[in-house]
Amino acid sequence: MAFGQKHCVTLDAYSAGELTEILDLAVRQKADAEVYRRTPVLKNKAVGLVFEKPSLRTRLSFEVAIAQLGGQAIYLGPEAGRIGEREPVLDFAKVSARYLDGFVLRVHDHSVLEECAKHGGVPVINALSDDRHPCQALGDMLTIREKLGKIAGARIAYVGDPNNVCKSLAVAACKLGAEMVIASPHHYRLDDGFRKVLKGPGKVREESDPQAAVAGADAVYTDVWTSMGQEEEADARARVFRPYQLNEALMAKAPKAVVMHCLPAHRGEEVTEGVIDGPQSVVYDQAENRLHAQRALMTLLFA
Ligand code: CP
Ligand code: NVA
Repeated sequence: MAFGQKHCVTLDAYSAGELTEILDLAVRQKADAEVYRRTPVLKNKAVGLVFEKPSLRTRLSFEVAIAQLGGQAIYLGPEAGRIGEREPVLDFAKVSARYLDGFVLRVHDHSVLEECAKHGGVPVINALSDDRHPCQALGDMLTIREKLGKIAGARIAYVGDPNNVCKSLAVAACKLGAEMVIASPHHYRLDDGFRKVLKGPGKVREESDPQAAVAGADAVYTDVWTSMGQEEEADARARVFRPYQLNEALMAKAPKAVVMHCLPAHRGEEVTEGVIDGPQSVVYDQAENRLHAQRALMTLLFA
């Protein structure tokens, strides 16, 4: 099948076939390094990693994947300031694209990614924005497929803040036929604009009762209550999300589920130590799968 995407700013325009193509290739590359060594699509190419926010997993997994595909990663971190601060985003995009063959960008404002995709003329990959985290969702889908043997029909419960991670997971889950339930407090719900983006065959449902959401789930997922950039709201969020903690009592409702978290985790806040370090947790395999999913994504985007 022809891979039709030029960028990965969100997964909204990706077909189920394209998502499956990425996951299939990730599985093949993970099983046998010769598969990507034979197609070093980034040979003699440079990819800029411009990160306005800190990162461990995303930065390392992209740098390693770029090296494995024969390319060079050039990192600019938060100390370089926000994109658009020193000069217009338009100039950042047009100038950088004269040196680079692609961008991996971690930004506050999601529209910066869209502007770079529009004006840069080279592939733009979203390494997290305030609104979305598509590469996380690709790694998560790979993990669900590995652990459950399927994505279509899988029951995923997401408990906590319906944030960037949750939204990208919902888009991918819905396209690939999973059933996702999001349990969150009333004032923290998906907005109507985003709900329109969700396209089946899967389903995404919201509810306020975490116990009902996780009952019988195949995968139970959570993320921090306070995302990067929301630090001033941390106290208020800790109070309102407290009943949504992933703890032993809640996990008793889903004794067969795998426990997922994009990491970094705040042990004792959104998840207890017993749960994240317990036998149901797959968080380190999940973190590893970022590498395999992103390597496959870049193989297809840069082919
Ligand atoms: N999950 C994730 O994106 O982790 P980092 O913030 O460490 O990149
Ligand atoms: N929702 C978190 C994810 C970190 C990987 C954040 O945006 O900070």
